[in-house]
Amino acid sequence: MRIITKAAELARTGTATRAAVMTMGALHEGHLALVRAARETADEVVVTVFVNPLQFNDPADLERYPRDLEADRNLLEPLGVDVLFAPSADEVYPGGRPVVTVSAGRIGEIYEGEYRPGHFDGVLTVVLKLMNLTRPDAAFFGAKDAQQLIAIRRMVSDLNVGVEIVGVPTVREADGLALSSRNVFLSPAEREDALSLSRALRTASDAVASGASLPDVVAAGRAVLDPVRSVRVEYLAVLDPASAEGVGGDYRGEAVIAVAAHVGATRLIDNMTTVIGGSS
Ligand code: PAJ
Repeated sequence: MRIITKAAELARTGTATRAAVMTMGALHEGHLALVRAARETADEVVVTVFVNPLQFNDPADLERYPRDLEADRNLLEPLGVDVLFAPSADEVYPGGRPVVTVSAGRIGEIYEGEYRPGHFDGVLTVVLKLMNLTRPDAAFFGAKDAQQLIAIRRMVSDLNVGVEIVGVPTVREADGLALSSRNVFLSPAEREDALSLSRALRTASDAVASGASLPDVVAAGRAVLDPVRSVRVEYLAVLDPASAEGVGGDYRGEAVIAVAAHVGATRLIDNMTTVIGGSS
């Protein structure tokens, strides 16, 4: 595995196909699932590790984001990764904040976008930059960040980026907790309370399967979350996977039940895919 920090060293040679996995490091099994999926499809796998300042609305959150490149490297090496690209902020943003950036449009204003203004603009800007730097044929992203995946698919389609986007299912702990780099911040009691997110999604998903109305689906999920002491819900909603808009009562087909909540001081998101109306 080559470890590089300079964009100039990323040049492609020959006809080998390339897959990219973009991360902010503090890698866990969720990230590694993307790497394994990428490894199966391409001749060359490039993993990027870059904590992107542009997508953090809260400077304190950026400051305390976990960083451990040595541990990341040790996790990636055995998976047959060809290149680990770990640039500095100066390498990605020479001259500081870019003047021209990508706008997530409406997707950047709703749900995650409402609670994290500017976040998806920052994500899309760095994802496009990292695509332009790594020049992959395909890029792999986790379903864990459902709205991010929707925004990236939309950018690639709306701007003709020419990179295949592959979504990889969410990796969970045996008890249902979705793996996240932020889980390290949870106290044992908060970790227990955090299980209510996946439990609420399953309850809401069961309600969909039994034909409940949209308000009843949301109420069923909220009934799991609202009594939990350290949990403060921002939203629990049923989204259209093409647009990230909340679905209406007459919606039929695949939908994403998404939740965001603070558990103590840690903000967590999770989601589950469901089918409204029994078939897509
Ligand atoms: P990060 O949070 O490090 O996640 C990197 C990738 O891993 C994303 O595609 C994310 O959806 C995926 N991922 C995280 N947890 C997962 C899990 N439990 N199961 C499956 N996949 C999981 O997402 C970002 O970084 C950044 O926004 C980035 C796209 C790198 C742009 O800066």
